[in-house]
Amino acid sequence: MNKRILELFQEFPEAYVSGEEISRRLNVSRTAIWKHIEELRSAGYEFEAAPRKGYRLLSKPNTWQVNELLSGLRTKVLGQKIHVYGEVESTQTIAHALVASGAPEGTLVLAEAQTAGRGRMGRAWHSPAGKGIWMSLVLTPRIPVFFMPQLTLLSAVALCRSIQKVCQVDIGIKWPNDLLIKGKKVSGILLESSGEDERLKYVIAGIGISVNLKTEDYPEELRNIATSLAIESGADIPRESLVQAFLLEFEELYALYLEKGFAPIRLLWEALSVTLKRPIRTHTPSGVVEGIADSLDDSGALTVITQAGEKIKIYSGDIELK
Ligand code: BTN
Repeated sequence: MNKRILELFQEFPEAYVSGEEISRRLNVSRTAIWKHIEELRSAGYEFEAAPRKGYRLLSKPNTWQVNELLSGLRTKVLGQKIHVYGEVESTQTIAHALVASGAPEGTLVLAEAQTAGRGRMGRAWHSPAGKGIWMSLVLTPRIPVFFMPQLTLLSAVALCRSIQKVCQVDIGIKWPNDLLIKGKKVSGILLESSGEDERLKYVIAGIGISVNLKTEDYPEELRNIATSLAIESGADIPRESLVQAFLLEFEELYALYLEKGFAPIRLLWEALSVTLKRPIRTHTPSGVVEGIADSLDDSGALTVITQAGEKIKIYSGDIELK
């Protein structure tokens, strides 16, 4: 019943819903409504009750609302099984363990906070409690291991498109899969995999989205290079809606990819890129490369044209936009 009451308030965001209306729509007595509102209050929801007007939902608790997430989820596979945690070291570690005990494709691990969130290239990922989406998604594509970079780019496209749908922000992808708003990083993706006979056995897609962090939630050293969706859009974003949008977008692109290959994903990635045709610098095993980021090849590698006109392919690592 609490779930149905919440759904009703979601139909009328920020408005008063009268006791009469609730009682009529849900076929319950006024006393029962009051009891459910009290239960929701003790779960962290804030309601205002005004004589003759009814109830108004003021705020939701900033802990994961799994029922809400599941009730608005339109996917067939992804996120159909969700494991939610409070504080964990890393959702990646948990997802690997779940796969080992038979978790199927689409299993999602969500945490409020991570104490050892990991980023690409051995970096740490700042994951304070209740402020972001720190999640790991289990995938089992039976594709060759060397197609992993394509999945990385697909993840970035899904994430970028879902953020565009849910939040009014101007966001783009820096190769391979950092999401930037006005040059600052708002989200990162880390894919970890296990293969067998040169085919992928499973992939854990680790996604970090800085959703509702405020400037003071960042350590000093990150303030110039990182930002959040709330800082950039000027409003707090419901994390559940963003997870729903991301899983749906990912499921659709993943089906497209498994059917048609990388070509359509590559076009979508190019349309969202803030890297192509821009001057970049990167460190490769054979030294620093500077040039113009020209194009993405079929494997997902970035082709850079140096000042001397040489074409160099970058397969992994990080680039700096100049
Ligand atoms: C990066 O840009 O370096 C990738 C960051 C990935 C962070 C996410 S948060 C959820 C998942 N669990 C982790 O420990 N890391 C990923």
